[in-house]
Amino acid sequence: PDHSRPKKDDGLRSMASDKGPAVLARGVTKSFGRLLVLDRLDVEIPRGVTYCLLGPNGSGKTTFIRSIVRLLRLDSGELRVLGRPVAQVGRIYSRIGYMTQHKALYPDLTVEENMEFYSGLYGIMGREREKRIEELLRMVALSEHRKRLAGALSGGMYQRLSLACTLIHEPEMLLLDEPTVGVDPRLRKIFWEYFEQMAKDGKTVVITTHLMDEAERCQMVGYMRAGRMAAQGSPEEVLRQAGLRPVLSLWLAEPEKDAAHLGDLGYDIEVRGEVVNVSLESRAQIKEILAEVSPVDIRLLEPKLEEAFLRLSEGA
Ligand SMILES: Nc1ncnc2c1ncn2[C@@H]1O[C@H](COP(=O)(O)OP(=O)(O)O)[C@@H](O)[C@H]1O
Ligand SMILES: [Mg+2]
Repeated sequence: PDHSRPKKDDGLRSMASDKGPAVLARGVTKSFGRLLVLDRLDVEIPRGVTYCLLGPNGSGKTTFIRSIVRLLRLDSGELRVLGRPVAQVGRIYSRIGYMTQHKALYPDLTVEENMEFYSGLYGIMGREREKRIEELLRMVALSEHRKRLAGALSGGMYQRLSLACTLIHEPEMLLLDEPTVGVDPRLRKIFWEYFEQMAKDGKTVVITTHLMDEAERCQMVGYMRAGRMAAQGSPEEVLRQAGLRPVLSLWLAEPEKDAAHLGDLGYDIEVRGEVVNVSLESRAQIKEILAEVSPVDIRLLEPKLEEAFLRLSEGA
């Protein structure tokens, strides 16, 4: 064999060989005619995380995802994908899995045939193909429906098959545009566990959604509004940016005395009758507080991401 030939297939390169975040956008702008859809958008998606791109309908989520795989050209700004300028993303398609918001399967092929087709696109053959298809069909609970035509599947089943096809080549970055629409809660949980495992394995999972409860499961969230990033970070960071903190309520026998004591220790407190509310900087403080006072009852009120986004986008 000729060892002097340079390796051509970028897909075989190790993940660490090209540096930088999974996705880096700086001042990304895109208009359709006179409609400004991405307006100097800044996004940074680190590798090895689950990242939720959240935002109301029409805020530009799909447009941004499509620009990452270069299905559309940007007007201006910088966009890098897995360490490369987006203009070169075609060379690393085999490392990316993209599931669109719209139907992208062959309706007149069966479940199994669709998966075989996608395997073929990525050169996955023989025993490996069988094993992979088997595994993924089990994950999306479609093993028993493998002979059904894709066109005859229910909405949720179709979504599940789309996801299985997107995962066939074990992509290092997944782009999922509203993947859990119509998927029942039990399977949704299985999907999430799978995504979380992928992130643990160093892969990047980007999910768009308008469902807040899904955002809370992600390690990072970005909230888009009118083509701009209104807030970005871990859910805890976003809550902090919005000035929202968890509140620990303490029911105390001597609220005034204990409140004074906690106040002296520098805690942010508020007294309401027999209840003392402490605004927490971190959850670690709970233990510290309980070492100082002995409440008869306690309650922890966690702030909601939804409220944080509302506050942040009103301010923006
Ligand atoms: N190809 C296109 N031509 C014209 N307008 C478009 C096109 N794609 C998207 N838009 C418009 O851009 C805006 C953002 O759309 P989209 O990115 O799909 O938002 P989201 O996915 O957040 O709902 C919408 O007003 C939509 O109608
Ligand atoms: Mg969309």
